[in-house]
Amino acid sequence: MTDLTQSEATVYDTVAYPTAIFTQTHPDRLAVIAQLHELAAADPATARVLEVGCGDGMNLLAMAVAAPEARFTGFDLAPTVIERGRTRAAAAGLHNVELEVRDVVEAARELEGEFDYIIAHGLYAWVPPRVRDALLALIGRVVAPQGIAFVSYNTLPGGYFRMAVRDLMCHFIPADAAPEAMLRIARQVLQQFAEPRADDGPAMAAYRHQAARTLEQPDGLLFHDELGAEYHPQLHSEVCAAAAREGLVFLGDTGRGRFDDGFLPEGVEPNADVQAQIVALAQQRDFMDLRYFRRSLFVRADAQPRRTFEPAAMRRLWASSRCTRDGDGWRGEEGTLFAVKDPVLAAALDRLAQARPARLPVAALDLDDARLRSLLQLFDLGPIDLHTGPAPFATEPPERPALSSLARALIAEGIENLCTLDHSTVRIEDPVLQRFFAGLDGSRDAEGMQALAADSGFADPAQCREMLDVALRKALIMRPRTAA
Ligand SMILES: C[S@@+](CC[C@H](N)C(=O)[O-])C[C@H]1O[C@@H](n2cnc3c(N)ncnc32)[C@H](O)[C@@H]1O
Repeated sequence: MTDLTQSEATVYDTVAYPTAIFTQTHPDRLAVIAQLHELAAADPATARVLEVGCGDGMNLLAMAVAAPEARFTGFDLAPTVIERGRTRAAAAGLHNVELEVRDVVEAARELEGEFDYIIAHGLYAWVPPRVRDALLALIGRVVAPQGIAFVSYNTLPGGYFRMAVRDLMCHFIPADAAPEAMLRIARQVLQQFAEPRADDGPAMAAYRHQAARTLEQPDGLLFHDELGAEYHPQLHSEVCAAAAREGLVFLGDTGRGRFDDGFLPEGVEPNADVQAQIVALAQQRDFMDLRYFRRSLFVRADAQPRRTFEPAAMRRLWASSRCTRDGDGWRGEEGTLFAVKDPVLAAALDRLAQARPARLPVAALDLDDARLRSLLQLFDLGPIDLHTGPAPFATEPPERPALSSLARALIAEGIENLCTLDHSTVRIEDPVLQRFFAGLDGSRDAEGMQALAADSGFADPAQCREMLDVALRKALIMRPRTAA
């Protein structure tokens, strides 16, 4: 590895990029999609995971705390950002994560090792061609024989829309403007432009709407994602062609509403080159849908994913609910209300909702093949999640509960958005609850928790059981090692 620790600050060191975690990048999600295509995938609990352009590594840290037997490596060009991640990993006591300062161009030649899962989120469409090529070359060289790579990128034709607004902002920004001035001018331009006008035709209305959406972005995203020096939305088919040159083929997409991109639509027969057929169909869909963004998966060219739905593959998975009963229907986490008319499928949804946050084997739901396809659609739409195994966190109160060590480290940093052990986030603003959660370190029994609740400022220390239930429902409590 080139010693880049003394390297110059990058633009990501100067203007902070928001820290985030991405459910769609989680190895378990990648493995589910592989299994739906009847590919064997490494067990996420013990896998080797690499993230390229990982920023401060928060995405990896959140995975690592829930999978202590797995190994996580992340690298990024920005030294102060990597340092922040290392400090946080140390504070959370995570020994299964390594964060390095590296350039993907150098890594493509020299990074050693083999990885079951490789993640590159928000990199490919924002770097010059030689860096894009290096990313795919790296993946082609270090992905394990049954490995899966996740690459997200801005796509065309939706990218043309974003590009029009970017060009508009850039037209008014002087070439030598400092970051603060760039952001100020960009926001002024957008504010003036985004307001709808009475004589707008449909095209102008859509253009202004795009400007309004851009204006909503926080500074870090506006600066890097929209005004960055490199901005190259991609055609899906061209990304697949570039991946093919590195011995990789498109498997499918991990974005909601897109899990079926890797399958032939019902009634469409495979032709002689089913791989090319899948890419062409997905590309066609992007044109039809004005697609903006893709979260594409790639596997080795000899992998031969199954391209039609196989109910037996669904029966090997586990499911969990992301919705709650609301009268005759269910309400999803995003607030949408939906109905399921079929009573058998409805009963299965009720079972999952009652078990939440625990996961149930899909086979135990006793659904026939047609209903399994409906269950897959529910996964695609969002009301349920699919997994390769049971929950990697406690779903019943342990004798001495321990909150995720990463969540405790975040509370200590004064951060209110906590990473959960099912790779999402939960906001805890109440200082009393923060103090109580921070004290759940696995050393306290029921009596100790009551004392902690009193010290934390609870009006009634008996409330601690209720608060523990909140932490369990939010997937914040570690699974005791012995119960694994
Ligand atoms: C848009 S940010 C995405 C960060 C994170 N993956 C996410 O999605 O939130 C792009 C990241 O890629 C890193 N990066 C850009 N060029 C790179 C290169 N040549 N090698 C390694 N990292 C690079 C930047 O430093 C930055 O942290």
